[in-house]
Amino acid sequence: MLLSIVVPTFNEAPNIMELVRRVTDVAGRMARDGVETEIIFVDDSRDATPDVIRGVAVNAPIPITLIHRDVHTGGLGGAVVEGIRAAASDVCVVMDGDLQHPPETIPDLVDRYRRGGVDLVVASRYVDNGSATGLADRSRVLVSKSSTALTKSMFPIRLRDVSDPMTGFFLVDRRAIDIDTLAPRGFKILLEMLARKSMRVAEVPFDFADRHAGASKASMRQGLHFLVQLAALRFGKMSLFAVIGGLGAIANVLIVWALTHLGMDYIAAAIIAAELTIVANFLLIERFVFQDMKNDASNVWSRFAKSFTFNNAELLIRIPIVALMVGSGHITAVVATAITLAIAFFVRFLFHSLVVYAP
Ligand code: GDD
Ligand code: MN
Repeated sequence: MLLSIVVPTFNEAPNIMELVRRVTDVAGRMARDGVETEIIFVDDSRDATPDVIRGVAVNAPIPITLIHRDVHTGGLGGAVVEGIRAAASDVCVVMDGDLQHPPETIPDLVDRYRRGGVDLVVASRYVDNGSATGLADRSRVLVSKSSTALTKSMFPIRLRDVSDPMTGFFLVDRRAIDIDTLAPRGFKILLEMLARKSMRVAEVPFDFADRHAGASKASMRQGLHFLVQLAALRFGKMSLFAVIGGLGAIANVLIVWALTHLGMDYIAAAIIAAELTIVANFLLIERFVFQDMKNDASNVWSRFAKSFTFNNAELLIRIPIVALMVGSGHITAVVATAITLAIAFFVRFLFHSLVVYAP
């Protein structure tokens, strides 16, 4: 059997030698059981990491491949997907490059896989005998535990057998995943795989160790990515679009309120508020809703022009329609506004998904 070990790296120069040493030790032992091993580094570094990798690859007893990316599409998750695509074997272990994932756990993953019946083996911190000494401080433990609980509650069935959906250490048989449907962003690539396709899963415990050297790249920004990813996976684009639209409506009201309080004329305040929220709305959906649907043939300004024109036209058309409905005498202004807003929401969503972000 052939095993590909995929390691995403971002500025991990001081960790590479030790990682390769420990992985090749383990590979030597696994070779006696008929498992051949390769390592694929998918690197986005700006430090000496690629040079160090090329250096150790020369004399290494197992094949080491370096994919150095100049465009860091999808960050950590994108790197993992690229590594899995490039792997010589269908069976891939994904692990971090900072030795928080002990290479000595790899044989446990492989053994469990070879016993059969599973597509995915998760190395878990939260199953019996697993632990997380490397979660440096209390706040990190709290963040990890609460985001795990939140995630599990949102995918109660898919994640029933997974105690640690946020781990970055696992073995996957890539024949069981639909690699083209993965839209990885940031750190939570395993969650993405689990949420998109049902798989047969097993877990083995491991100890999430301290970093060998260097500092974590986790950040508030990654945390935000995670929440957006969760919403996108769970409710799809339309609900994310709705959430952003709802926030826009609230902002709109607040701006009108503030400007009229400052003494501005109601009409002027309403126009300013509407245009500001239209622009903000575009920036948010561009970034968070349709980020994976940007057509190479269009550019941001042409998308903005379409979106801006549509929203203004919608605004202009909706007001006389509301007036007509109210004028007919059967409907109050509030009901008429609500109905037109609901219809406008669907039309706006369709327009953006089919025209602005044409597939
Ligand atoms: N190629 C690439 N591109 N690699 C990256 C990037 C990136 O943008 N960002 C981080 N990495 C690499 C790091 O170099 C490291 O090898 C690995 O991904 C994990 O990054 P860390 O910075 O060490 O993250 P962490 O230890 O805070 O998070 C780990 O534990 C979490 C659970 O607590 C990761 O395994 C997460 O996936 C996991 O959820
Ligand atoms: Mn780490």
